[in-house]
Amino acid sequence: MDLVEAIRSRKSIRGFKPEPIPQSVLAELLDIGRWSPSGVNAQSWEFVVLTGEALYAVKQANVKWMEQKVEPHPDMGIPVLTGAYRERQVTLGRELFRLLEIGREDRDKREAWTNTGMRFFDAPAAILVCADEEAPDPTAIFEAGMVTQTIALAALHFGLGTCIQRAAVNYPDVIRDITGIPASKRIYVALAIGYPDMDLPVNTLRSVREEVNAITAWYSTLEKPVPPPPHS
Ligand SMILES: Cc1cc2nc3c(=O)[nH]c(=O)nc-3n(C[C@H](O)[C@H](O)[C@H](O)COP(=O)(O)O)c2cc1C
Repeated sequence: MDLVEAIRSRKSIRGFKPEPIPQSVLAELLDIGRWSPSGVNAQSWEFVVLTGEALYAVKQANVKWMEQKVEPHPDMGIPVLTGAYRERQVTLGRELFRLLEIGREDRDKREAWTNTGMRFFDAPAAILVCADEEAPDPTAIFEAGMVTQTIALAALHFGLGTCIQRAAVNYPDVIRDITGIPASKRIYVALAIGYPDMDLPVNTLRSVREEVNAITAWYSTLEKPVPPPPHS
């Protein structure tokens, strides 16, 4: 697939076929991912791949913790969105619930959908993007973002879909307990990954973007004199 076509066509997939992903494909994806750029080539990212029983156990625990209303405490924190950011979040939520045919007041269906997210949208595999505590934030988070996007794009080459998820790592201590990931590793984000089930209406979602002009400033002429250097 052409690179630009891949970037333009990638979108979050929130429902998968049950077919497992060959381990060789997952390994190749990570092999591609590690060619992402990083500051001073620090390569702060680390991966954890969950499949089989381990993934099942994390899915179950995620749902239980959420049902018991344990306060989410992801290692990356939870952003408090205001203004335009909050509006975009609301737009996304509305569109998702429209496709899922979930009404505003339908608590049961909403909860069921949230549970699906906590189960990595029933994906046959999940990749956790992590970093060691020695890798300083925010650079490590930035680099986790770079490698996450690389994997999400490369997945398309193998006919795979992904959903980057913070919610699925809302309880990182539980994931560490189940899997044995050491306490010294921060778990930033998960990629639910699998073969997309395109019969699901939710997977028709095409999220919107701001126009380039609304988010770009172009500077070419100078309005003010250039300030002298501090020690002149
Ligand atoms: C850091 C990050 C966290 C995300 N967490 C979630 C999540 O918890 N649940 C979810 O359904 N989507 C999640 N997403 C996917 C975004 O909602 C999605 O990328 C965005 O709406 C744009 O849509 P697109 O990926 O289809 O282009 C996350 C994406 C990022 C980058």
